Amino acid sequence: MSSDTATLSKSHEHWTGKVGFILSTAGSAIGLGSLWRFPYIAGQNGGGAFVILYLLFTFIIGVPVFLAELTLGRKTQKSSLAGYSKLTKPSSNWRLLGWVNILTCALILSFYGVVSGWCLSYTLMSLNQFSLGKSPEQIREVFTILSSSPGISLLWFALFLIINGGIINSGIRKGIEHWSKILMPALFIILIAMFFYSITLSGFGEAVRFVFYPDFSKLSGGSVLNALGMAFFTLSVGLGILITYGSYMRPKENIPYNGFWITLMTVFVSLMAALTIFPIVFTYGMEPTAGSGLVFQTLPIIFAKIPAGLLISTVFFALLLFAALTSTISLLEVLVANILENYSWSRAKATTFSTLLIFIIGIPSALAGSKALFPTWSAIYGKDFFSTVDYLTASWLMPLSGLCVTILAGWKLKKCVMIDEFSMGTNNKWLGPLWYFLLKWLAPLAVIVVILQEAGILKFN
Ligand code: PHE
Repeated sequence: MSSDTATLSKSHEHWTGKVGFILSTAGSAIGLGSLWRFPYIAGQNGGGAFVILYLLFTFIIGVPVFLAELTLGRKTQKSSLAGYSKLTKPSSNWRLLGWVNILTCALILSFYGVVSGWCLSYTLMSLNQFSLGKSPEQIREVFTILSSSPGISLLWFALFLIINGGIINSGIRKGIEHWSKILMPALFIILIAMFFYSITLSGFGEAVRFVFYPDFSKLSGGSVLNALGMAFFTLSVGLGILITYGSYMRPKENIPYNGFWITLMTVFVSLMAALTIFPIVFTYGMEPTAGSGLVFQTLPIIFAKIPAGLLISTVFFALLLFAALTSTISLLEVLVANILENYSWSRAKATTFSTLLIFIIGIPSALAGSKALFPTWSAIYGKDFFSTVDYLTASWLMPLSGLCVTILAGWKLKKCVMIDEFSMGTNNKWLGPLWYFLLKWLAPLAVIVVILQEAGILKFN
């Protein structure tokens, strides 16, 4: 064990500083979840009422688990597999949770990478003025053709994974941190510029009402689970990502302060995204609940009509692409970091292996639109393969693993150990007990209630 630790500490990189850590972790959190999923799921689930639930779940459930993962990572200086063993016993069942984390990351990356591939394609197509002179039907059709062409879907998926792998191959400082420091500020500038454009549109007032006016009659039991899943998904919790990112933190870093800023940034981007997209949708008389086609079908139709649409379209899809990339690097890093800690592989070998593995697992999701593989999947399971993986991971595996983290950190490990580690870099010592209370009681209870409701065991209306 000791020689093991000695080799690890030599090869275990750390963030260069606070900014690098915050931007990299915010990069993981801010992604397609905030920019693509949040607006349409809010749209389908009653707008403001859903937003209130999402904010509530984010702050009282998501944040405590988010901070717990960072605390566990920094304490052990390890990723999930080795970390859980170190915290308990090497042979304990908690190691299994590490494997569930790895599997969940791989599954998420396998469908998330497909959407990211579409973003890459749309950025380049926008540069090439793909919507010029096309009718709305033809523009809609572009997405249908793209998502239902097996070879083309696979090509963009593969290209995206190669870019992703390239960044991870360069390591923490030269890869993740370096690129997050470029892509995240670019993302903020683009989003703020687009937001100011949306304010000038006549549909802005309607969008504000839509996002903030709570219509509780539109909330179903399913929306509650959706809101919790959304809160977990956007914060990237329940997957061991923050354990890995926390393991690259130094002892003096202030966990609550950094966690608070990262959460605020994430929530801010989700709301800004909705307030940027919906004014465009309302101004041009489109449907806010257009589902996953909202950004790939509805918006390009509008971009084709408006002045400087080519520029706006390119910039918008670049925004999605950057957000996707900083999130997918965190997913891949979990796989690579766990391999490096448990096998004596080089980073290049671990990255190549993980990227190939994700590509293979992602093939059925990339082909879901074309039905080239498992053509009868939807008829049997009610959702296509892509949506099945999405639902399984975001609605079940993430909340369940999050629940396990609360049990490990709040019940199994010693209170003083957790609070000491959590409070190490902060002068606000009162935050520790408050966080611990939410982590031990409120977060697990809320997750259990929501899961029982989804399983049909509890019924609320
Ligand atoms: N948080 C990211 C987003 O909102 C997605 C993600 C989920 C990334 C889980 C990593 C892990 O898009």
